Order: sequence, then structure tokens, then C-alpha cells
Amino acid sequence: MTTTIGVFDSGAGGLSVLRELLKAIPDARYIYYSDNANCPYGDKSPEFVTQRACAIAELLMEKGAQLIVVACNTATAAAISTLRARYTIPFVGMEPAVKPAALGTESGVIGVLATAGTLKGSLYLDTKQKYTSDVKIIEGVGRGFVELVESGDLSSAKAEQICRTALQPLLDAGADRIVLGCTHYPFLLPTLKKLASGYNVTFIDPAPAVASRAAQLLGIQPAAGNEKAAQPQVELLSSGDIGPLKRNYLLI
Ligand code: DGL
Repeated sequence: MTTTIGVFDSGAGGLSVLRELLKAIPDARYIYYSDNANCPYGDKSPEFVTQRACAIAELLMEKGAQLIVVACNTATAAAISTLRARYTIPFVGMEPAVKPAALGTESGVIGVLATAGTLKGSLYLDTKQKYTSDVKIIEGVGRGFVELVESGDLSSAKAEQICRTALQPLLDAGADRIVLGCTHYPFLLPTLKKLASGYNVTFIDPAPAVASRAAQLLGIQPAAGNEKAAQPQVELLSSGDIGPLKRNYLLI
């Protein structure tokens, strides 16, 4: 029987995680839910985000999801413990990739770009405390990044300006590893890399590790080919405008 995997985010950002899931577990059936009507989550209260996460998880389970990937760092920070306590199926959340950044840095300075909600959450604060005692960590909120991705503006002069505002302080501080702590941000990677050219910096996206974890929980050996299925089984759903989701789906 085909495994059904639910995936959700505040918007289209979680498609950067779906991209890796489709490579690791190409034979599964996917249902992706974008909470576009309530996007962005970044500055919303943890209570509100948890309430939305539970409602979406219930909908995905009704549609047959056997495992749910919370493809949103902000929703993971607010709701992962509640989801795991309340429902019996497994949930995979986003891990802030602070550990690989701390282990890989040569300059001793790492940067983290995320939403305000993620940076305030105990998951991030605990991870930071555990792995960064001997490195300096510089945090930046990607203000306006989610809106750029939802509107499909990934590389205009305006997009560059918004990205530069968040990125430059991290580069100026000497960060040589920058963690993308929001699933929308990988869509801006070409612009971020362009702005960081001339700096010795590597961007870290936790999505491949999250996809491997999902495969492990399902008892599936991640596919070696790193290729999507020729005709992936993906259902796209949205609480609001489905346009951004359909547009960004074509990019993965
Ligand atoms: N994709 C999101 C995350 O990973 C949500 C950002 C937002 O809605 O503010 O945090």
C-alpha cells in the first residue's frame, strides 16, 4: 500500500522540504497544505500557530496521512510537542541546523536567519545552548522574506534590498556558515548567494536531514538516486490563495 505523507507550512515555503521528501521517498503519496490565509506565522502568537497546526494535522489525517512533516520552523517551534502529545501518528519537525553549522565553521562565527517566532522558541534556544558554547552566533530575522516568496518575487532589486538588510550584518560579523532557519528562505538562495559572493560563506538548509528522518520513521531506506519520481503523487491544498503554491511548486 502506498504511504501517505502530509506536509504543511504557513505558505509555499515548505515546498523546499517537499522537494527533498520527493527525492528521499519518491513512491509516497503527498498531501501538501499551505495555510496561506494565515501567512505569515512569524510574528503570530504560539497559541494561534498551535491551534492552526492542530486543525491542519486533523485535516491531513482525515485525508489519510500516516506521517506528518511540519515543514515550517515557526510551527515546529510553537506546536511540535502538542502535536506529538495529542495524536498517535509520527510528526517530523524542522530542526534548526545549528549543530552542523557549529561543527563546520572555521571563522568561529555562525549566522542564523529565521523568523522571530523560531528565534524565541525553546527548541532553538536549547539547540543553541547545546552546540554553540565555543562559537559566536549572530541572528537575523528575514523581515519580508516570506512575503517575497509568496508573491513570487525572488530576485528583483527590491528582493535584493530586503535580503541584504537581513544578511549583511551576518556577513559583516564574519559568519562563514549561515543556517536557513525558515523553509521559505531556500527559495531566495540564488539572491542570497549573489549578495554573499566575495564572502567565504556556506548556507545550510536542514531539509535533506528532515527528509531522511521521515524515511527512517517510516522504515524506508532513503532512495539513493536523489531523483524525483517521473510523476510524483502530490495534492496541493490551501486555506487561501492557491496561486503562490502552484507557482512555487513548479520551481521544485
Ligand atoms: N516557512 C516558515 C518557517 O519555516 C513560516 C514563516 C512564516 O510564516 O512567517 O518558519
